[in-house]
Amino acid sequence: MTIRAPKGTDDILAPVARTWRRMLRTWDQITERFGYDLIFTPLFEATELFARGSGEDTEIVQKQMYSFSDKGGRSLTLRPEATPSVMRAHQQAGGSGVRKAASWGPMFRYERPQAGRRRQFYQLDAEYIGTDSPLADAEVIELGYRYLRDVGLVDVAVTINSIGDPVCRPAYQEVLKEYLKAREDELCDDSRRRIDSNPLRVLDCKVCKPLLRDAPTPVEHLCDACAVHYQTVKDTLGAVLVPFVEDPHLVRGLDYYTRTAFEYIATDLDAAQNAVGGGGRYDGLSESIGGPPIPGVGFALGLDRIVLALGDIVEEGALDVFVVVAEEGLRTEAIELVSDLRARGFRVDYDPDRRSVKAQFKIASRREAPNVLVIGEEWRDGAVTARDMTTGDQRAVPVEEVSVWLR
Ligand code: HAM
Repeated sequence: MTIRAPKGTDDILAPVARTWRRMLRTWDQITERFGYDLIFTPLFEATELFARGSGEDTEIVQKQMYSFSDKGGRSLTLRPEATPSVMRAHQQAGGSGVRKAASWGPMFRYERPQAGRRRQFYQLDAEYIGTDSPLADAEVIELGYRYLRDVGLVDVAVTINSIGDPVCRPAYQEVLKEYLKAREDELCDDSRRRIDSNPLRVLDCKVCKPLLRDAPTPVEHLCDACAVHYQTVKDTLGAVLVPFVEDPHLVRGLDYYTRTAFEYIATDLDAAQNAVGGGGRYDGLSESIGGPPIPGVGFALGLDRIVLALGDIVEEGALDVFVVVAEEGLRTEAIELVSDLRARGFRVDYDPDRRSVKAQFKIASRREAPNVLVIGEEWRDGAVTARDMTTGDQRAVPVEEVSVWLR
């Protein structure tokens, strides 16, 4: 093999791909139950969308974008996240009313690759656009939490915070700047540079965080409207029984957030990649990408990280039944039976190559088929031999009763 997948990318193959399929199916079901439509947007967008949307001063825009010029000389970027695209799509579709949109797909960030930190990774994304109600914040937080529980991630903590809005944040930022300036010598270079441009992000710096435990927090400086909003989010989470922990130092790595910010933490993963998801409210995003004011709130979960956090789980087998052809002359009949059972909703497969019965049984075991149907001499009496692969029980079953036997 000479050509390998690029650094920081993965092939998702069976058996792990079975977990992925289950995760996508569960996502599809739960978002539908919560009233979200499906949305797909382009994998690449005008570079400006992310520069202005995600924010010029973010790590993503400064260091991690896959940007290129196409043959027409346009500057395009492989999407590092979905939220600016979803807001752009909403604006482009007229921008009115409420839109609840869920999607999944690959995102691209030029990261230093490690487990759970990939250059192409996959997000499940949900956005609730067109309302500034705190009930929407609580709903999206609940959606992510329920999803993680449904796919089997039990050790997950929801952390939440409010980082204020353009009314109260400027005054808070001044207080924070003053505090940070007094400790400037102890901060890392990036943080020192951000004291003036983006002091909130300093609270999120992995290096400086331990030094800033007594820093003033946004919640201590919320205006009345933000405080009421935050309280309603918390009360509503309580009402729908979503446990959460307040983290007054939680700020997120994207510039568009206002008010609510939250994360889902897998408590048994390494601290560097234990955030299996995160999100928040972004009432200023629409304007920052050139549109009218449109509020929104949402989150994204990292599929790669959820799979890591789930550990080695054994998925249910991918087949209900394997069909073995014992007589060459009955191949067409066997294929008809396969087709009929598939149409009835069973997961069915067979071996297209002309192998011995023994070899076909081997394939059935390797594929973990719980049942095998042998098409052989009983066929002329209208029956097949059905074997329960777990118990080894075997008996003749009339063809028209096969689906009953399988159930
Ligand atoms: P984010 O925190 O940048 O937020 O990413 C969300 C999740 O994607 C992270 O918690 C993590 O699980 C996963 N993730 C991020 N980068 C990587 C990577 N390099 N490798 C593997 N997994 C990764 C957003 O992207 C926002 N758009 C979320 C949002 C939606 N906010 C409002 N709406």
